Amino acid sequence: MSIVSRPADRPAGPEQPAAEEIAAYVVAAAVWAPSVHNTQPWWFSADGQELSLHADAGRQLRVADPRGREMMISCGAALFTARLALRSLGYAPRTSVLPDSDEPLLVARVSWQRRAAAAEYEQQLYGQVRQRRTHRGGFDPVPIPLGLVAMLQEGAERDGAMLRIVRSAGNRAVLAAAVETAEQALELDGMYARELASWATPPGSTRRDGVPHSAYPARPEFTLPYFPGRDFAKGNRWGVTGSSPSAAPRSAGLVCILTTAGDGLIDWVNAGQALQRALLTSATCGVTAALHTQPLERARLREFLRTELCDGAYPQLVLRLGTATQTAVSVRRAPASVLFASGGERLTISDE
Ligand SMILES: Cc1cc2nc3c(=O)[nH]c(=O)nc-3n(C[C@H](O)[C@H](O)[C@H](O)COP(=O)(O)O)c2cc1C
Repeated sequence: MSIVSRPADRPAGPEQPAAEEIAAYVVAAAVWAPSVHNTQPWWFSADGQELSLHADAGRQLRVADPRGREMMISCGAALFTARLALRSLGYAPRTSVLPDSDEPLLVARVSWQRRAAAAEYEQQLYGQVRQRRTHRGGFDPVPIPLGLVAMLQEGAERDGAMLRIVRSAGNRAVLAAAVETAEQALELDGMYARELASWATPPGSTRRDGVPHSAYPARPEFTLPYFPGRDFAKGNRWGVTGSSPSAAPRSAGLVCILTTAGDGLIDWVNAGQALQRALLTSATCGVTAALHTQPLERARLREFLRTELCDGAYPQLVLRLGTATQTAVSVRRAPASVLFASGGERLTISDE
């Protein structure tokens, strides 16, 4: 896919890139944020030097995510990416999260006027926006780079969240068991299974949302302790076959829970911003993440994890971090299909 040309890379001239071009550039990056089942539950409206990010309730998982928690986390990840795209152009974005209490689906307004050169690390994070992929499987038996954990924890705090490392063997086993229990319960739930199947796209599909068969292994890779992934293929023999997973379990990696002190809309958006910062920061160090939200979709299991592993804070995401050969491929809707002028008409983008 070609990327909208970078307005700031043009030969220096007296005129700044047009606001419309900047909005297009930002949205073309933001759509590469992670989202639950790759639902991409967002749309954008542009008005001069201001972009609004809206949650698209039509793409909410009504069964797995009835409160819209994962939808708002996904939008938070898109918000972080939009802000980062503006930084990559040398703008200092001004962000107002949930600016209108009467409009809970208006996630944020981001405007840009003031210029401030991007820091080296911001450019590095931006460089990972389209490269980063969700991993589904085990990791190489090597520790993650020194210093990364502290960087991730500091980053999460900046976004109003907390990254808790689940270090003890006992707690890792407890969390893995919660993931497995949830996975089994969800697989037995017909409505849930139908919803999941509707976001798992078959080989040959031209859909640009959902989880394609190229994004997960055909056979589960066992880890110690075992963190089962979602069964996207359910009964179909889909998935990447390639290298056959070895019989010996692989490393589960560094196991973490991203938490917030509260559990409202703002906390979910914060968690999404923190998630995308953590994923991109990890990617700059060659570290990839596997996500396991299954136990957080079962109220009792989530409450159990909150009290037993999170000191009463609200678990928003379960992550495993490590190094592995990246095989997953993902898809996104065309930016033009999610960007509108404030009057409602579509903005023209060359990136279809
Ligand atoms: C809130 C949220 C929850 C997610 N939960 C899971 C999960 O339980 N299992 C999984 O394999 N991926 C999970 N993901 C990752 C998405 O499936 C992934 O971001 C999406 O398919 C796009 O692929 P990409 O991240 O490789 O670009 C989650 C992502 C978000 C934002």
